[in-house]
Amino acid sequence: MSLFPTRIERPFARLDRAAIGAIVASDRHLLVQGGMGIHTSDGLAGKVASHRGAALIGVGTISAVVKTEEHFRREIRRARDEAPGGFVGVNLMAAVDKDHFEASARIAIEERVSFVVQGAGISREIVKWCRAGGVPFAGIVSSGRLAAIYEKWGAEFLVAEGAEAGGHIGDVGHPLPGLVDEVLGATALPVVAAGGVDATDVARFFAAGAAGVQMATRFLACSDGDAHPAFKEMHLGRTCDDVTLITSCVKGMKARAVRNDFTDALARGVSFPPRSKAWYFGDKGYHGRVKPCVECLADGLCLCRASGFKESFCITDALLAAAVKGDTKNGLFYTGQSIARIAEKTFAELPSAKALLESLEDLLASDMGTLLAASA
Ligand SMILES: Cc1cc2nc3c(=O)[nH]c(=O)nc-3n(C[C@H](O)[C@H](O)[C@H](O)COP(=O)(O)O)c2cc1C
Repeated sequence: MSLFPTRIERPFARLDRAAIGAIVASDRHLLVQGGMGIHTSDGLAGKVASHRGAALIGVGTISAVVKTEEHFRREIRRARDEAPGGFVGVNLMAAVDKDHFEASARIAIEERVSFVVQGAGISREIVKWCRAGGVPFAGIVSSGRLAAIYEKWGAEFLVAEGAEAGGHIGDVGHPLPGLVDEVLGATALPVVAAGGVDATDVARFFAAGAAGVQMATRFLACSDGDAHPAFKEMHLGRTCDDVTLITSCVKGMKARAVRNDFTDALARGVSFPPRSKAWYFGDKGYHGRVKPCVECLADGLCLCRASGFKESFCITDALLAAAVKGDTKNGLFYTGQSIARIAEKTFAELPSAKALLESLEDLLASDMGTLLAASA
């Protein structure tokens, strides 16, 4: 059977500027599930994208990070089966190695996903490929300046990601509320607000002019999704003191994670050279690479590789240990600042993605009413 269909059954809907404009004009907004790398958001996109409520249109995002081509394609088709005609995009990281980046972009365009969104670096090439392939492109921005650049390049919408976000953070000094205002002022493109967003913030960002909000951390703490149960457990009963910023081996960027033995060791300067990944990628390796260092990041961007494996740590090992093995001591559990606002205390209480979206609809109905009354 060919992996490259010429005709897509039940295609996704395009999420371009016009489609978002029509949604906002109908008094609804986007609720985007943020793409999370290394298995953490697998299985969520279709569930979120099947939500079409009175106030919110669900949008799913699949991450391409460290997936084999087969795995990436399988995940896209799984979402298409779960949400036929829905909005499902893919998240590509510009920092990953060039072959993988190009292969992921090709698959996304072949599968006619709703949009491609790019994080961790910028690449003009991907905007051109998407335009040529007829797939809307969205940029993740941490400044109005970058927003204006993306608009000029032909992006269809923007995700303004503030310092409260999980995982790698573009600019640790740029909290979301101010960033949203700055980005809205710098571009005419639709803007999705991301980073630390909790249910109680949603109405405020819509009232400020955002076309949608993006949540990632909140979806880690739900009963759906393939992340290891221990990853979900790590999100229960946490306070701000349980969260820490580390220096990632990816370009030395800051990244937010749940504090554990691993992050404490990193803070003491301990280094973790790469280990064999055969347990995860099998004999064929990652894109044919079988050594402990699978060169997952683009040349010159990995601090671990650049130091001859004497400094920093292997990001793929650390994130796989968390998301796939659920190793709470040796894994790196990326999370966002909103972890401290997750109300559920036990695993049994975790809501499904569907229930989460329905409760957001209910809250929004009352919050929007209050905001409208206040501004009348
Ligand atoms: C575990 C985890 C993994 C993430 N992986 C990626 C990624 O691969 N690419 C990316 O652009 N953003 C990634 N993010 C950022 C999220 O997509 C999202 O934009 C951000 O966390 C803001 O939402 P939140 O504060 O609700 O988590 C990740 C976040 C988390 C928590």
